[in-house]
Amino acid sequence: MGRTRRTYRKAYGVRLLLSHHPEVRKLKRFNSPSVHGNKFWKSSWLLMDYLNRRGFPEGANVMEVGCGWGLLGIYCAKKYGARVTGVDIDSEVFPYLNLHAEINQVEIATLKKGYDRLRGNHLQEVDVLLGADICFWEELAQPIKRLILRALRAGVKLVLIADPGRPPFEEIGEHFVNKRGGALLDWTAQRPRRSEGRILKIGNIEDCGL
Ligand SMILES: C[S@@+](CC[C@H](N)C(=O)[O-])C[C@H]1O[C@@H](n2cnc3c(N)ncnc32)[C@H](O)[C@@H]1O
Repeated sequence: MGRTRRTYRKAYGVRLLLSHHPEVRKLKRFNSPSVHGNKFWKSSWLLMDYLNRRGFPEGANVMEVGCGWGLLGIYCAKKYGARVTGVDIDSEVFPYLNLHAEINQVEIATLKKGYDRLRGNHLQEVDVLLGADICFWEELAQPIKRLILRALRAGVKLVLIADPGRPPFEEIGEHFVNKRGGALLDWTAQRPRRSEGRILKIGNIEDCGL
């Protein structure tokens, strides 16, 4: 008898449905993300691993930008009781986010906005701004840099962006290391499989003081 093909992965307490899971396949018939939000990207594991080791305040207001399927925000809601908003320019990703929120038994708010459209009023209640695998085109470097600057001006206390280390990410990272006391960290997560990448950190978890 052949082995059954696994349709999900579980790590850091969250469950990720794989592309061939029947519920994901059902969504794919009607929802087609078009800006690379068609799957889960693995830099989110790096940030889950980082937060798992460093700790995270209970009940923080978290915004995950370029959220796609939203697993990183779901992790924060599930493990730390965070109030999370997932932001993406492509509303076709939200059914995948909602499905994952449901199977992980958390509630996540969603907001359809591009990075340049997130203004002070969207950011002023946010404690922590997160993003994983969002710096994948050169033309995204400036909008993301401007978004981070607006977030810091609005009082966001901690910004964490993870990436495999693509050139636009490094450009953003160097800017914030030189001008805003940010740090670029090499990071390796061992779960669900070994993955390596870089984390840009601006601010301190301790400053969230919740
Ligand atoms: C490579 S995917 C990563 C998705 C998710 N963060 C993950 O790790 O699985 C990039 C995401 O950014 C979104 N995106 C692309 N350009 C954007 C923009 N200008 N403003 C907001 N979201 C954007 C895409 O729709 C997509 O969901």
